Amino acid sequence: MGLIAVVSAGGAPGATTTALALTLAWPEPALMAECDCDGGSVLAGLFGGHFPADRGLLNLAWQITEDPGRVALHEQTYPLDDVGDRPVLPGPADPFQAQAITAVAWEKIAAVLARQTADVIADVGQVRAVGYPFAVLAAADLIVLVLRPTLRQVVAARPRVAAIRDALGRQAAIGLCLIGRGPHSVAEVRKVLGGDFAVVVQFPDDARSAARLSDGDPKRRRLTRSSDLLVQARTVARALRAAVDHRPGRRPDRPVSPLSTGGGRPV
Ligand SMILES: Nc1ncnc2c1ncn2[C@@H]1O[C@H](COP(=O)(O)OP(=O)(O)OP(=O)(O)O)[C@@H](O)[C@H]1O
Ligand SMILES: [Mg+2]
Repeated sequence: MGLIAVVSAGGAPGATTTALALTLAWPEPALMAECDCDGGSVLAGLFGGHFPADRGLLNLAWQITEDPGRVALHEQTYPLDDVGDRPVLPGPADPFQAQAITAVAWEKIAAVLARQTADVIADVGQVRAVGYPFAVLAAADLIVLVLRPTLRQVVAARPRVAAIRDALGRQAAIGLCLIGRGPHSVAEVRKVLGGDFAVVVQFPDDARSAARLSDGDPKRRRLTRSSDLLVQARTVARALRAAVDHRPGRRPDRPVSPLSTGGGRPV
C-alpha cells in the first residue's frame, strides 16, 4: 500500500501530532513510524512514559543490519487504539542514537516500510542538510510538508522543498499541510513554495486536542472522535489517500491484511 512521509521545515509546526492524527483517522488500518533523526517523541509524549522503550526503530535498524532474516516490524510497535490495527513504531528519544542509523540501514528501513500491506505514515521530522534519511522520502508515495502559514515557516520551507526536489527529482509528489490560519493565504503559501504540489490540506488550530496527541493526557482520557482535529483528520486522510492512489506511475496495491500489535495500553 502507500508510504506517506510527513516532514517539517522546523519550528515544531506539528508534524508528529499530524502524523498521529492521520494514523488514527486513516480510512484503513495504518502504521505510524517515527523516523525523526532529531529524536522520537511518542513514548514520552502520547504514551506518557507508560511503555518501556524496548521496542522501536533502533531495534528494527539493528535487526535489519545484523539479522536480516529476522526482521519483524510489528514486534517493534505499540498499539495506538483498542483495536490494535494502528500500531506505532517509536523512534529513539535520543537524537545521538538516531544518528547512529547508517544511510544503508535507512535504505533498508525505507524498503521495509514501503512494502507493508497497510499504509504507513512516517514522521521524518525536520528536513535537514546533514544526516537526514532522504531514503525514506525517496521510497514514499507522497511527502507531506507540515507548516504554519507564517513568513518564518514559509521561508524555512522554501529551501527544503527545493532540496527534496533536487534529491528526488521534479516528479517527487509533495503535498502541503497547513496548520491553523496565519497572515498568509493558502494560495500565497503555495505560490511562494513553487506551486506544484500534489495536494494541499489544512488542519485546524486545535491546541487542546493536539496536546493530547503530542504530550499525552495525565488523566488518560481518550481523544474524542468529534474533536475538530480528528474530524478534519478524517477529511485530510481521505484527500492524502486519494493523492497516493492517483499518483502517476503508482504501483498496483497489494491486498490489505489487518495489522496487529503486541499488547499494551491503548490510546
Ligand atoms: N493542529 C494543531 N493545533 C494546535 N496545536 C498543535 C497542532 N498540531 C500540533 N500542535 C502543537 O504544536 C506543538 C508541536 O507539535 P509536534 O511535537 O507535533 O511538532 P513537531 O513538528 O513534530 O515538532 P519537532 O520538530 O519537535 O518534532 C505541540 O505543543 C502540539 O500540541
Ligand atoms: Mg516531532
